Amino acid sequence: MSELLRDLWYFAATSEELKPGRQFRREILGEPVMLARGADGRVFALRDICPHRAVPLSAGKQCRTGERVTIECPYHGWRFSGDGVCRLIPSLVEGQSYEAERIKVRHYPTHEAHGLVLIYVSSDPRFAGEPPPPPDFGLGAFKRPKFAVSTTFAATMDNAVVGLMDPAHVPYVHNQWWWRPPSAGRKLKEKRFAPYERGWVMERHAPASNSLAYRWLFGKDVTTEQVFILPGYKWEVVENGAKRFYALTCLTPENDHSTRIVSATYWSGAPFLDMIKPFMIPAAREFIGQDGRMVDLQNQGLKYAKSMLWIDDIDVQAKWYLALKREWTKSREEGRAFANPIEPATLRWMS
Ligand code: FES
Ligand SMILES: [Fe+2]
Repeated sequence: MSELLRDLWYFAATSEELKPGRQFRREILGEPVMLARGADGRVFALRDICPHRAVPLSAGKQCRTGERVTIECPYHGWRFSGDGVCRLIPSLVEGQSYEAERIKVRHYPTHEAHGLVLIYVSSDPRFAGEPPPPPDFGLGAFKRPKFAVSTTFAATMDNAVVGLMDPAHVPYVHNQWWWRPPSAGRKLKEKRFAPYERGWVMERHAPASNSLAYRWLFGKDVTTEQVFILPGYKWEVVENGAKRFYALTCLTPENDHSTRIVSATYWSGAPFLDMIKPFMIPAAREFIGQDGRMVDLQNQGLKYAKSMLWIDDIDVQAKWYLALKREWTKSREEGRAFANPIEPATLRWMS
């Protein structure tokens, strides 16, 4: 179940985390990745292992080699450009014909937009072609998040994704007074879903009447829309006329047992939110922290029992996720276009 999908764009970092001329190491799909921004402002990503003696390139420093931005390995000074090609082996002397440029370190295509940096993780580590277009999150004119919070779940990607889309835990796990006070009670929810790209959309509707925050912030005529797409992106748009609030959650597996979650929040036309932003950041942290603590509890059971139950209609989205994954893998194996297996449906539950 926890097979990691490739040939997809994964969230790697926020733009803000990547300062010009700096780099850092992050584990993504079981590989150490150096994420860097050159002094020229451009982002690049390399496998964070020097092909010479395996020292992390991220521990080195950036410098120019000719016109190029390069990262210099701290051990013997080999220099690599953003495309992964070795541009200099300083120990070589005249007459030694070793061609530095034959040496390559894996490079990951990157994409930066709306304050987010994505990397393309191909199933072929030598991939050197044009990656497919990155996902369109519908972020429109939003330039960068108002804020982003992140944490790491001690969970497989699958368990993290399933936890993210599970509507039944909300009244129990996220029952803080400003979001879902226990007094709000449970209500019948009936939501229409349709296939959408590599996922599904929960069609535009008025938010639940027992979700306090939305009503306070956006008034009566507010609508919300939620989308999920592979490999693990979920976003929710809340709108009322010119007010637009947008929350994107990105899940990226670090490895088989750890998953990074980042939640990036945007809004426009809502000056009140600008005012309360200092309170929203710890609130968002608390929100994903609640999920993280539940994952830790779940691990206490998963140590002994691997199986779980899936029931209708509350776990249908989890089943869809697994169906999407299977289809993604199959379509890659068979070398054909992905065909979304989801049928339009109305799901009902109490929450
Ligand atoms: S280990 Fe990187 S240059 Fe030798
Ligand atoms: Fe949650």
